[in-house]
Amino acid sequence: MSGLKVLSVASEVFPLVKTGGLADVAGALPGALAGEDVDMRTLIPGYPAVKDKLGGAEVAHEYPDLFGGPAQVLAGRAAGLDIFALDAPHLFDRPGNPYLGPDGTDWPDNGRRFAALARVGADIGLGAILGFQPDVVHAHDWQAGLAPAYLAYAGQPAPGSLITVHNLAFQGHFPVSIFWELGLPDRALSFEGVEYFGGVGYLKAGLRLADVVTTVSPTYAREIQTPEFGMALDGLLRARGGAVHGILNGVDEAVWNPATDPALAQTYNPLRIDMRARNKAALQSRLGLAHSVDRPLFGVVSRLSHQKGLDLLLHVLPRIVEQGGQLGLLGSGERWLESGFGDAAASRPGSVSCVFDYDEKLAHLFQSGADFILVPSRFEPCGLTQLCALRYGATPIVSRVGGLADTVIDGNDAALAAGVATGFQFAPPSVEALANAIDRAFEIYGDRAAMRRMRLNGMRADVSWRGPAKRYAELYRSVARTAA
Ligand code: ADP
Ligand code: GLC
Repeated sequence: MSGLKVLSVASEVFPLVKTGGLADVAGALPGALAGEDVDMRTLIPGYPAVKDKLGGAEVAHEYPDLFGGPAQVLAGRAAGLDIFALDAPHLFDRPGNPYLGPDGTDWPDNGRRFAALARVGADIGLGAILGFQPDVVHAHDWQAGLAPAYLAYAGQPAPGSLITVHNLAFQGHFPVSIFWELGLPDRALSFEGVEYFGGVGYLKAGLRLADVVTTVSPTYAREIQTPEFGMALDGLLRARGGAVHGILNGVDEAVWNPATDPALAQTYNPLRIDMRARNKAALQSRLGLAHSVDRPLFGVVSRLSHQKGLDLLLHVLPRIVEQGGQLGLLGSGERWLESGFGDAAASRPGSVSCVFDYDEKLAHLFQSGADFILVPSRFEPCGLTQLCALRYGATPIVSRVGGLADTVIDGNDAALAAGVATGFQFAPPSVEALANAIDRAFEIYGDRAAMRRMRLNGMRADVSWRGPAKRYAELYRSVARTAA
């Protein structure tokens, strides 16, 4: 099969700009797909952090007026990726978080900013850039959700389109007034088009109009077709039925490799798993926790949001400490959770410690030094922290939802007897169920052989992009249309 050209359209890409797992996925896909004979380029907004790293970029396309100002598409390479950056200073020349202004709320013109991104993605799909005419446009999340709409209403032969839902909770829902700026035909403001509860729904538009919809785990693909997890889009997703696929995320094995990771105090591999102890000691020092080889160290690396269920953990914390455990948390986000964990750390010095920051390097030390990684999410499309945890031999304790359900093998009696368990699952996401899973973790921790077995199973689990990349390549081929 000859090489396929795919344009990936995303609002964040690791290592250029990242707020969460979307960036990791968008950053890893091109490399993973190269092995499948897919030539993927990535369109991202030209935030200052992106432009800084795009040395030697060329102007590949120009717009005299794109949503209120001049813009150009810069083509270049950064961090090993082929990047198209949408350089539109009036929209993207803003430092810091890609979505939020200095007061921590959404930029008021996000509707315009990400319509522009999608618009340019569709234009590239339609041949705007000489030398790279994609067979498929792959849109990620609501920020790129209008790209399939622009393609569908282009009135000319268009490439195939695919949208991936990384998180249905973020929908890009804007007042109807934005519609008149989008440049779509009037008929697009309909149930079959971009209309959503009287406004314009960017994610809804993508889900309705892309040739194929994917999400990031098989369980989440099923969940989002139910009212409980569908966030008002379950009906639409059910109607698309066979066009909805669940493809698990992988971990970028070059970025997350305990045998070579420069962020660790001590590198290791499954044959040298005992050397993790040095990372545990380093993490305890870094966090100001009491030095102890024997106390189980529970770690959290997470956005602090309702989704992640960390308020449940706050209730279980006393029980962890009473049983001799320690908790280290690295996270940033909602203030009520920061203050809850801040108070917990202040009242239990030596046993509980929190770093309220976003720190990529420290995240690696957590994965290499913690005994357990906790992910008590209420919903979780895929989750990458538990995949990194498996790879680093930190045993994950997760709620049984979405990708967490698909990637961790619960240490129940049968799985333990068969020697296949890789962690602990609990359901429902409640304080009681979490407490019970933590009790089970303490029990295993007390049995050195069983604990070691579980860690090794995790390290040997396949969390790579190889399988997922094949699935994406198949889907791309199934929707590819060479534009005329
Ligand atoms: P989500 O995208 O919902 O936040 P994922 O588990 O898919 O959840 O991805 C989270 C990614 O962000 C992982 O790579 C994780 O290591 C990283 N991460 C989350 N919080 C932090 C933090 N405070 N510091 C460093 N990395 C973090
Ligand atoms: C979202 C989800 C997370 C997923 C990530 C990458 O941020 O919350 O579960 O792993 O996207 O797909």
